[in-house]
Amino acid sequence: MHILILYSSRDGQTRKISRFIASALTDTATCDVVDLSQADDCPLQNYDGIIIGAAIRYGHYSADLHNFIRRHLDRLNTLPSAFFSVNLTARKPDKRTPETNVYTRKFLAATPWRPDGCAVFAGALRYPQYRWLDRVMIQLIMRMTGGETDSSKEVEYTDWEQVTAFARDFAVLTDKASRQEGEAKGFGEK
Ligand SMILES: Cc1cc2nc3c(=O)[nH]c(=O)nc-3n(C[C@H](O)[C@H](O)[C@H](O)COP(=O)(O)O)c2cc1C
Repeated sequence: MHILILYSSRDGQTRKISRFIASALTDTATCDVVDLSQADDCPLQNYDGIIIGAAIRYGHYSADLHNFIRRHLDRLNTLPSAFFSVNLTARKPDKRTPETNVYTRKFLAATPWRPDGCAVFAGALRYPQYRWLDRVMIQLIMRMTGGETDSSKEVEYTDWEQVTAFARDFAVLTDKASRQEGEAKGFGEK
């Protein structure tokens, strides 16, 4: 199987999660991991499945995500596909499902893409890497929501077991779809 994993990442955590998913799938699939902003020329017809991951920044996913979906909607809705969202709200376990995570819930309600799978992963907090204004803003949000406020800290909240389970579920889904396609072709030949 050949799987395309696209990511939209500013500070690297969504890219790291994408690469981790690719490594979790090595037993069952060959994966290409590509930055969403460079993905328009990817030959989607060559893949058995596609995963898209996107980080939240000031309440929004990047325009690259929305543009890609608009341009490739038909293929996305035909292939086995899955979406994962990365944000810091999801550091709280009760905000880590597509139904309880506000960004993901709103995205799924608004997008014409119908991914077969969806997950929400907690991202990372890396104060020392942020520009001054971003650091102050994130500190303020963390203070308001009971999070880490020490600006010398870097904290990775991502639950890697959750990511592994998501990768396994997607492998099962893609495998099932490709078997069904194979069977359908077999019937066609009779
Ligand atoms: C400037 C900035 C704004 C952010 N805004 C939000 C936000 O509105 N809601 C949220 O839950 N997380 C927010 N985050 C947290 C990021 O989603 C989190 O750090 C994630 O790991 C970033 O992914 P990336 O490293 O792939 O860019 C923000 C982070 C930064 C640096």
